[in-house]
Amino acid sequence: MKISKQEFARRRKNLMAQLEPNSIAIVPSSREKVRNRDVDYPFRQDSDFFYLTGFAEPDSVLLLLPGRKHGQYVLFCRDRDPEMELWNGYRAGPEGACADFGADDAFPITDIDEILPGLLEGRERVYYAMGRHDEFDRKVMKWVNIIRSKVRSGAHPPGEFLDLDHLLHDMRLYKSAAEIRMMRKAGKISATAHVRAMQACKPGMAEYQLEAEIQHEFAKNGARYTAYSSIVGAGINGCILHYTENQDVMKDGDLVLIDAGCELEHYAADITRTFPVNGKFSKEQKALYEIVLDAQRAAIRTIKPGNHWNQPHDATVKVITKGLVDLGLLKGQVNKLIEREAYKDFYMHRAGHWLGMDVHDVGDYKVGDEWRVMEEGMVMTIEPGIYVSPDNTKVAKKWRGIGVRIEDDVLVTKDGNEVYTDDVPKTVKDIEKLMAKSAA
Ligand code: GLY
Ligand code: MN
Ligand code: MN
Repeated sequence: MKISKQEFARRRKNLMAQLEPNSIAIVPSSREKVRNRDVDYPFRQDSDFFYLTGFAEPDSVLLLLPGRKHGQYVLFCRDRDPEMELWNGYRAGPEGACADFGADDAFPITDIDEILPGLLEGRERVYYAMGRHDEFDRKVMKWVNIIRSKVRSGAHPPGEFLDLDHLLHDMRLYKSAAEIRMMRKAGKISATAHVRAMQACKPGMAEYQLEAEIQHEFAKNGARYTAYSSIVGAGINGCILHYTENQDVMKDGDLVLIDAGCELEHYAADITRTFPVNGKFSKEQKALYEIVLDAQRAAIRTIKPGNHWNQPHDATVKVITKGLVDLGLLKGQVNKLIEREAYKDFYMHRAGHWLGMDVHDVGDYKVGDEWRVMEEGMVMTIEPGIYVSPDNTKVAKKWRGIGVRIEDDVLVTKDGNEVYTDDVPKTVKDIEKLMAKSAA
């Protein structure tokens, strides 16, 4: 399953239709990064670049030149090189960029300094995400300055720089049918991995052993990389929001929080489940868990076209604050506690984020001063949590060190929503049932 060539072409066409007349858009690829001597980090293409090209090689630059007679879609990329390809793998080369990736024109990246200024010349506006890559920013300025230096010979340098992110990221926020299929699949694979971890979990295992179960399931299903570093935190490690050491031994009586999602064809999933290491929730763990689950459900109920971005968050804050008051972890009137944000001692993050090619995906959360209104095709996570710090002396000892988060991925549909990651059990009863069955 891949995004089709036609879809990449459609995206470029849509973007070009939104550019002001006589402009050029410039989008660089990601670069390879050294991890340690002679070893690079696994290469991951820049999401904006991939969204518009489907081209996964480093050292590439995309130009969109609406109206250009000799072709509007230009790619610079690495030349073919039998010796380099023998060592490091296949390259499409400019020929492949045209034949297989639909470029109208393609050139070796080594010729960009000679060719690009000529393509800039006469274009009034440059769309470019300034400020993201220092080195590339300097190159863009260098190319513009080459034309500026030739004004006395009649050259026309661009007069305006415009932010490309705004247009492009708004497009990425609305998922197409093919993107939704891909994200559902990433969600299903990730859900299976969480089930596998629940089934494998036993007191005395190390956190990294559960991480290994998760990774095995991802890779086996064609998702070799995670969308972010997996979080496997048992006991008080569950209270560290982005704990990724995953080194400790998991103890009988503790909860373990797993936040892990795979990346499939550049699309992310993002799921969190929290469950008892020994398969059975204690009274206190269950009480906090059920508040978080109620909060998540209340938030999901608010997801539909016409409601705004902050409604799910507001819903989680209400349920969590009331729940903490009922259990005696917060004292006072629910409304007043919400007003002074007392819940933030236990619930210090937002209810979720946009999800897509990036786990914390692009797209504005506000339009002007107003929260964004939800529309069909947007995808977000809903991930409330309660984390009782082990050092919180304001609450009874029995609550301390318990961390719970529950996270699912939710698509806004025409008349409501679709939670496409709920193949992993999340009620106390269903989790205990699954774990009892696998222990037997
Ligand atoms: N795993 C990162 C997040 O849930 O936002
Ligand atoms: Mn997550
Ligand atoms: Mn998330």
